Amino acid sequence: NLTTIRTVADLRARVATWRAAGEKVGLVPTMGALHEGHLSLVQAARRRGADHVVVSVFVNPTQFGPNEDFSKYPRQEASDAAKLASVGADLLYAPDVGEMYPDGFSTTVHVAGLTEGLCGPLRPGHFDGVATVVSKLLLQCLPDVAVFGQKDYQQLQVIRRMVRDLDIPVMIEGAETVRDEAGLALSSRNAYLTPDQLTIARQLNTVLFDVAADVAAEPTRCRSAIEWGLERLRAAGFDRIDYLAICDAASLEPLEIADRPARVLAAAFLGRTRLIDNIAV
Ligand code: PAJ
Repeated sequence: NLTTIRTVADLRARVATWRAAGEKVGLVPTMGALHEGHLSLVQAARRRGADHVVVSVFVNPTQFGPNEDFSKYPRQEASDAAKLASVGADLLYAPDVGEMYPDGFSTTVHVAGLTEGLCGPLRPGHFDGVATVVSKLLLQCLPDVAVFGQKDYQQLQVIRRMVRDLDIPVMIEGAETVRDEAGLALSSRNAYLTPDQLTIARQLNTVLFDVAADVAAEPTRCRSAIEWGLERLRAAGFDRIDYLAICDAASLEPLEIADRPARVLAAAFLGRTRLIDNIAV
């Protein structure tokens, strides 16, 4: 029995009822076009003790660049609702743009440092859009726990930093990336890929895995591992590679020597579709 609501007032009323009963609330923010990766976050919220799980579906205009896919981003609320009902989510919160950004909206949340590398410079304004909308969603819902995927690893670190810096009283949980049988990280954007592009896309995780294994075996080999990985991505047929990097797992500073917890991260284009993925070393 999933209920769909569209206003902050309705969201707060629902959550207040649960709170009054002493029940814990989980929030899973999404942009819809839900797949097994998103649904795994609902289950992760449950495992983290949430008695009730709210899933927000909001295609946030402020995190898309002018040449990005905001207008064609898949919108499929009816099938999203059916999937959420099947995993036992309690509430679908689907505000419209006017509810999130009423006339005169003027505030931006900017997280410095963590947003200056990797996807940051390549998607100007993106993380400001994410930080602003996620802080709004957290403050609207005030959940006990909010769950995000490691698939968007830089986003997860930005959100952790923001929640700490702004003293937002919520526990942030990062959930494992869900992959298809070939290891490709599930993404709503995979739907844009042609069959040929899909074959290429499935090499991305293999290269990340091999680069991670290489530096795990020989931590000083970051530079050569990245060169080798880039070569393999080009050979696989990626059209443009934004980056392949080995970074400190928490600060996301690029590493020359992987002598501490590290992450291999990549972003690359197939046609106009931009794919990202990452893996622990
Ligand atoms: P969206 O791309 O819809 O992703 C919603 C959540 O699902 C994010 O936390 C993302 O990391 C997670 N996710 C996506 N694919 C996954 C996979 N294969 N395995 C596990 N988790 C996965 O990320 C956003 O939306 C937005 O930026 C948002 C945080 C909602 C703010 O607008």
